[in-house]
Amino acid sequence: MVVRRARRSSPSYIDANCGNHLRICEIRRRFAQPKRVRPRSVKRYRYLTAEEGYGAGMSEGDFEIELEKRRGLPEPLRALLGDYPRNAWEANAHFSALIRFWLDRHVGFRHLLEALLRETREALDCGNEQDLFGARLAQLGGLFINELHGHHMVEDIHYFPHLKMLDKRISHGFDILDRDHHVIDGHLAAFAEEVNAVLWAIESNAPANTAFGILEAGLVRLDRTLRRHLEDEEELVVPVLLKFAPAGLV
Ligand SMILES: [Fe+2]
Ligand SMILES: [Fe+2]
Repeated sequence: MVVRRARRSSPSYIDANCGNHLRICEIRRRFAQPKRVRPRSVKRYRYLTAEEGYGAGMSEGDFEIELEKRRGLPEPLRALLGDYPRNAWEANAHFSALIRFWLDRHVGFRHLLEALLRETREALDCGNEQDLFGARLAQLGGLFINELHGHHMVEDIHYFPHLKMLDKRISHGFDILDRDHHVIDGHLAAFAEEVNAVLWAIESNAPANTAFGILEAGLVRLDRTLRRHLEDEEELVVPVLLKFAPAGLV
């Protein structure tokens, strides 16, 4: 593939913590003294013990709760989903505009990632105008990071603490979702680095193929991880909302 050279007017860079664009001098300083962009807060978590976890009746397999390993929520956390299956959500009397809005936010994140992945592959395969792609990448990447951080903050502060009190059978699921957010923070920090490496290559008229390839691989990982989280979160949160219709959240 032939990578087209960028014009000198390449886009500004994005920040891992908020998606805001950085000034070129700032990103140059960072690249001059390379260091990892720190995510908002990334912690390492261990598996829960039985005592800390969901209580009696759980098998070892039920503790496979790590976001990047699990294939869905552990069965005990799907207790309400049986009564409130996904295909019946919208027909429920408690299905509100606010729930619709929240689910649509998830759809929007999936679509943003699809667009980022598609456009990165097109730029990689076809050698699209690098400067135009860079501007688009900075715009979409910054938007994605900013919006996802804000979304997680609302969930961590307003939704999860309240919802986890409503049904003790599934309350620990909200701790899992909170931990997911920290894992995703790590992916967002890596994503910001990968985007900035592409933008830096464009800005510098340096060969960009390697940076593009790393970005594409990172996007695939981020997409897989986020989709797992979103699906599990929806299947934990919506049944609780439909059953209890907590004031202010539906
Ligand atoms: Fe979430
Ligand atoms: Fe969410």
